[in-house]
Amino acid sequence: MSTVIKGARPYGEGDPVDVLVEDGVITAIGTVQAPEDAEVIEANGQVLLPGFVDLHTHLREPGREDTETIDTGSAAAALGGYTAVFAMANTDPVADNAVIVDHVWRRGQEVGLVDVHPVGAVTVGLKGEKLAELGTMANSQARVKVFSDDGLCVADPLLMRRALEYSTALDVVIAQHAEEPRLTVGAQAHEGERAARLGYTGWPAAAEESIVARDCLLALHANARLHVCHVSTSGTADVLRWAKDRGTKVSAEVTPHHLLLTDERLATYDPVNKVNPPLRTESDAEKLRAALADGTIDCVATDHAPHAVQDKDTEWSAARPGMLGLQTALSIVAETMVRTGLLDWRGVARVLSERPAEIGNLADQGRPIEVGEPANLTLVDPDAEWTVRGAELASIAANTPYEGMRLPGVVTATLLRGRITARDGKIG
Ligand code: DOR
Ligand code: ZN
Ligand code: ZN
Repeated sequence: MSTVIKGARPYGEGDPVDVLVEDGVITAIGTVQAPEDAEVIEANGQVLLPGFVDLHTHLREPGREDTETIDTGSAAAALGGYTAVFAMANTDPVADNAVIVDHVWRRGQEVGLVDVHPVGAVTVGLKGEKLAELGTMANSQARVKVFSDDGLCVADPLLMRRALEYSTALDVVIAQHAEEPRLTVGAQAHEGERAARLGYTGWPAAAEESIVARDCLLALHANARLHVCHVSTSGTADVLRWAKDRGTKVSAEVTPHHLLLTDERLATYDPVNKVNPPLRTESDAEKLRAALADGTIDCVATDHAPHAVQDKDTEWSAARPGMLGLQTALSIVAETMVRTGLLDWRGVARVLSERPAEIGNLADQGRPIEVGEPANLTLVDPDAEWTVRGAELASIAANTPYEGMRLPGVVTATLLRGRITARDGKIG
């Protein structure tokens, strides 16, 4: 089986070239004489990137298949240009044992649109009381590489320390949802002027920054790898800079929504804008963009969080936090980072593919576009624009905060090990 991508510009650089893919591997780059039976993708000078890797996706299977399944979430991922996603453990039942993580992994392989790597819970039932069997999950068929209680913080410093210590022996990474729970009781929105005016209990920046500082020190002393989920404040970027300078093995992600949206959205009263951690100030967003550009923040992860209408379309305080992200991530990165000149397309490859693949320890993802490398590839039309319609997205839920927005950057094809998983907005 072969495919030829004709006239693509790898990393958006240089003159267009043809890329030949045979049996899942890139076998020629240049002017290629395509085999007769080859599938041809006319790229017309579009940007070719390594397939995107999402370190932070909520797929809701098992337990809330009314909002997303591994099937629909995989479709959203492929359409968004992803070839691998990490599915968070806060399902029902929780992915805190080998049976659940193996189910998620196998179901992802059956669907076959994207590699679905289950994230294992750090603590049993996400209760924050005792460690889950990290070793059993790491050695299971799913080969769990990332552990997180995301949705909740591993707040107990002793448990977090133990998890970090065990992680070194297993060569896995602990991903922390940094939120000191004592500081966010009843929190509804970023603690600041806007929340105060509306009478919402605030979610202070210090609740995130204090946990990140603590965990960086724990990781440094344990010589362990820490990954910080969804960095939302400029102060967290400062802490990360400090910790990295001192040799801490810490990596961090920022979500597309924290790059683009701010607590100005509170004025809408629309809970589609409610997310945890909350949308921050314009100054925070600006500093997060700069921190992503200079590498202080390693990568972009979606925190794709589908929610049912009855859980989301309520008064603000009752609404669940979270928003869809898989099909809009590339466009938000194009809007906030490429249009502004903060990143070129090589930089986009770094933050959406290469760094997340390294952090998640995936050997066959985020690879250079070169002969002999696995053909996990994403083709992007950088000049095209599209209008977001939640109802048209592949997810079952439709809670996108970008409804009706016109955004730059369209994913025109995604290839997983040489197989076309998405093309011109359609699966397969
Ligand atoms: O907004 C969020 N939604 N933040 C989280 O930490 C959890 C997630 C979810 O599971 O819906
Ligand atoms: Zn989280
Ligand atoms: Zn999350």
